[in-house]
Amino acid sequence: MGIEELDPRTAPDDVLAAAHQVVAEVEAEQTPDEPPPTLAELVAEWRHPPAFLEAPHWLATRAGEPVGLAFLELRDVPHNRAYAEFDIAVTPAARRQGVGTALLEAALHRAHGEGRPLTTGYALAGGAGWAFLERHGFTCRQVERRSRLRTAEVDRALLHGWVQRAAERAGNYSHVGRTGPSPDEHDEAYARESMVMNTAPLDEVEFEDMVITPDQVRAVQASFPDRGIEPWVLCAATTPVSSSPRPTSASRTTAPATPSRTTPASTPPTATGAWAAG
Ligand SMILES: CC(C)(COP(=O)(O)OP(=O)(O)OC[C@H]1O[C@@H](n2cnc3c(N)ncnc32)[C@H](O)[C@@H]1OP(=O)(O)O)[C@@H](O)C(=O)NCCC(=O)NCCS
Repeated sequence: MGIEELDPRTAPDDVLAAAHQVVAEVEAEQTPDEPPPTLAELVAEWRHPPAFLEAPHWLATRAGEPVGLAFLELRDVPHNRAYAEFDIAVTPAARRQGVGTALLEAALHRAHGEGRPLTTGYALAGGAGWAFLERHGFTCRQVERRSRLRTAEVDRALLHGWVQRAAERAGNYSHVGRTGPSPDEHDEAYARESMVMNTAPLDEVEFEDMVITPDQVRAVQASFPDRGIEPWVLCAATTPVSSSPRPTSASRTTAPATPSRTTPASTPPTATGAWAAG
C-alpha cells in the first residue's frame, strides 16, 4: 500500500478523480438515501477552499487502485488554534487491513507538527468509525443528531399562518434577504450574529468560543462562486433596512460562516459523535 500526501488546491486532476472514487463509494454506503457528491462538485470544493483553510489530504492506493482518503482541516482563525479536525474513509473491500490506521497516523503526525495537539473526528453512532476511534484511544465527547426536512412536504398552511401572525408577534422586525454574497455594509453584523452558535451545547467538547470576523465572512463568501454555492440568506433586522441594518438572527441554507465537514444529513435521523484526543 502507498500513501501520498496531496494538496487538493493544486493536485493533478487524475489524483482528485481517484480521491473522489473513495469518497463516492464510502458516502454511498454511509448515506444510501443521498446521491454521492459528483466529481465536479468535489473538485470545485477542493480547488477553492476559503483563504483561512488549509486541508492536506492523504490518498491510499493498493496496486494502483485508490482504497482510502484522509484529510485534516487546519484553520487560520483566532479561536481553537490547538485543534485540527480530520476525517478518514476506506473503501469497504479494503477495510480491517490497517489502511485507516496508516491514514490516521499521517494526519495526526501533521497535526502535531503544526502545533495542534488536539484532534477531533466524527463517526456515525455504532458504526465502524466509532469502534475505530475507540480503538485508537479517542473518547466520545459529543453526540450530535442530524435530521432532514423534505421541503416539498412542509405544511404550507401552517407556515402561512406564522407569516400572517408575524406583525402581532414581532412587529418591530423587518427582513433583509439576499441570494449571493453579502453587501460589505452587513458583513460586520453578519459575523457578530453568526457567533450566536457559541451558545450551542458542546457537551464535553472543550472548544473555545468561535471568533468570526468580517474578514472570515468575506473569505467564505469569496470562495462560493468557484465552489458552485449560491447562498440564500434571510436576516431579521430591528430597524428599517435602508437606514441602519442590525440583523438579530441569521440563517443560511448552504454553508455556515466557518465551513465545517460536509457530511450530508440523512433520513432517518442519525447520531454522530465528535471524538477527541489530545
Ligand atoms: C473507520 C474506517 C476508516 C476504518 O478503516 P480500516 O482501514 O478498516 O481501519 P483499520 O484496519 O486500520 O482498523 C484498525 C482497528 O480499528 C478497529 N476497527 C476498525 N473497524 C472496525 C469495525 N468495523 N468493528 C470493530 N472494530 C473496528 C479494530 O480494532 C481494528 O483493528 P483490527 O482489525 O486488528 O481488529 C472505515 O471503516 C471507514 O471508512 N468507515 C466509514 C467512514 C467512517 O466511519 N469514518 C470515520 C472515521 S474518523
